[in-house]
Parts: sequence; structure tokens; C-alpha cells
Amino acid sequence: MSKIFVDACLGKETPYTPVWMMRQAGRYLPEYMAVRKEAGNFLNLCHDPKKACEVTLQPVDIVGVDAAILFSDILVIPDEMGMDLSFVKGEGPKFSDPITCDADIERLIGGEEAASKLTYVYDTIKLIKEKLADDKALIGFTGAPWTLATYMIEGQGTKTYNICKKMMYSNPELLHKILVKVTEVVKLYMEKQIQAGIDVVQIFDSWAAAIETEKYDEFSWKYMVEIAEYLKEKYPHIPIIMFPKGIPAFYDRVYGNFDVFGVDWATPIELAKEKLGDKYVLQGNMEPCRLYSKEATTASVEHIQSVMQSKRHIFNLGHGILPDVPVANAKHFVSECQRVSAKK
Ligand code: CP3
Repeated sequence: MSKIFVDACLGKETPYTPVWMMRQAGRYLPEYMAVRKEAGNFLNLCHDPKKACEVTLQPVDIVGVDAAILFSDILVIPDEMGMDLSFVKGEGPKFSDPITCDADIERLIGGEEAASKLTYVYDTIKLIKEKLADDKALIGFTGAPWTLATYMIEGQGTKTYNICKKMMYSNPELLHKILVKVTEVVKLYMEKQIQAGIDVVQIFDSWAAAIETEKYDEFSWKYMVEIAEYLKEKYPHIPIIMFPKGIPAFYDRVYGNFDVFGVDWATPIELAKEKLGDKYVLQGNMEPCRLYSKEATTASVEHIQSVMQSKRHIFNLGHGILPDVPVANAKHFVSECQRVSAKK
């Protein structure tokens, strides 16, 4: 059975424009909170294929999105490379031993060995594929090497990125060493996600905008393209979505073998269409905070539709949904996307 989401990623005509939401499985859903409570904490939930499968399917059943996204986190990769991830309540992710020198990189588990430790992710994918309706797609994902490296170097989230940028300008070889090692793991990790059954790959470069345009290709984009090209060579039928958040000044220089470009909410969809719409299918890009108002949501969905006109487009938010959004408003967003784009 054909999947509308996969068809849209490949630029084929679909009965309406499919829609999903970044971070669609999460705290705004009371059903998610109930399963997380049973699991004890977020990481336990990621490690438990049955529960992770359950929360992956929730937004498909409750909100009506056209694709499920694997429930996991980008930071399980450095965790399995030996970095000891924890989530501190109210403070987000933490690594106790950030990378500062060559010896720290040498100590990291790399390649096949690290990718093979993520069995709970592959088991979750297999379970989801058993339960997900045939016409819905399953998106697998990874963080871009740069976004992963920011956490590995800073040890946590950051507003200034000063530690990793100090490395970028004063010891770029060291930063590249980290990026190369992470890229090798990510290639194999995504390959194993594909072998376990995912239909589409998304690469999140959430912290792309921390890099000046001049340096973006060198420290992030080229590694994302390397991953995409590795996967495309072996699995040409699997669509790849690139989501570098907040880098419109780089749009003129975007290159690479992938299918879909994710547009963030701060970039006008008109600009993305002009610069990239002929080459790639575009995904996005409603400002997630519009979800606080049904009227503001409808206005944005209609605007995006008026620009994209059901051609080479996937509806999404321009970044993740926030935990205090009413579920009814998320449902409204999804049904409005499906309504305005339905072909009569
Ligand atoms: O529904 C989905 O999108 C699938 C699951 C998913 C999660 N994280 C679950 C999660 C995905 C795709 C991610 C990706 C992720 N994780 C990114 C890239 C995407 C983005 O939003 O930019 C990043 C930067 C992370 C790192 C991360 N994980 C942070 C900074 C945090 C803490 C902040 C927060 O939102 O609480 C997490 C935790 C996290 N990952 C939660 C969820 C549902 C919240 C955990 C909880 O309290 O239950």
C-alpha cells in the first residue's frame, strides 16, 4: 500500500498534503505523561521498546498525523559512545565528562561497536512497524554531527556555544575529529534503523544557527551531506529530510543528494520556495507558538498553502511543539492542513 507521506517526500502527487509535527510524541499529550510515569523517567522510556512504541503511535491515533516519528532522542548516540547521558529535572540533558582533548575522543566508542549498542532503538522500530497502519510512514532520525557535538563538548545545552566555538576557531582539527567520529556512528546507526524498518530519515541540525554562514558547510552541512550520500547510495528508495534550523543565509549554497528540506519557522516559506523549491520538496513551517490560538493556526496554514499550493510540500511546524499546547489545537492544525490542501 502506498504511503502518502513517502510519496510526498519523493515529489509525487498526493490526494492532500501530508502533515506531521516535530516533537509530536511528548508532554502536551496526557497519554504520553501516563506512559512516562510508568517508565519512571524519560531515558527508561527510550530504552523500553514496548513503551517507546506506544508513545510513538499516540499522535497518529490521537492527533491524526500522516507519519509517526520514532520515539527516542538524538542524545542516545553519544550516550552509547560512552558519554553517560542523564536528564536533570528542569535542566535538560547532561553529560558528566564533556570532550576537551584528543584522549577524550580516543576513549569514545566508535563505528559499528557504538551503532550495535542501540539495539533498543531497532527493537522499537520493529515493534512500531508491526502496529502502524500500512498507509502511515515511520520516520527514523538522528541529530546532525554538529548538533550532537555541541552537547558532547559543552556537556549540556548552551545559549552561547562558547566552548565549542572556542574549539572551532582555536583548534578546528579537534572539532573535526569529533565530527568525523560521530559521522561514522551516525551512518551505521541510520543504516540499522533502515534495516529495522523505517520509511524515511530525518537529520535534525537544531543548532545550525550557532555557526556563521561562512563556516556552516565546513562544520556541519558537509557531514550531513556525507551521511545522506552514504544512505542514498545503499538505500535510494528511502527519502531523506534535512532540517538545519535557522540558516536562511545559507540557502543559496545548499547542495547534496537528499529529498526534502525542512524549513524552520523564522524563515519565510516564500524565500525557501524561491531558493530551494525547484530542487527539493519543502517541509514546514508554521511557527509552533501559533498552536496556542486556533485562529492564528488557520491563518498560517492558509498562508503556507497559498504559497506552496499542494506542490512538492509537506506540512509541519517550523520546530517542535511545546508541552503546554492544548491537544485540541494540535488536532485543529492537522485537520486544517488536510482540509486546505485536499484536492477536489
Ligand atoms: O516526537 C518526536 O519528535 C520524537 C521524539 C524526539 C525527542 N527528542 C523526544 C524528547 C525527537 C525527534 C527528539 C530530538 C531532539 N532531542 C532534538 C532535535 C530536535 C529539536 O527539537 O530540535 C534535540 C536538540 C534533543 C535534545 C533534547 N532532548 C533536549 C534539549 C531535551 C530537553 C528539553 C525538553 O524538551 O525537555 C530532550 C528531552 C526530550 N526528548 C523530551 C522528549 C519527549 C522531553 C522529555 C520528557 O520530559 O518527557
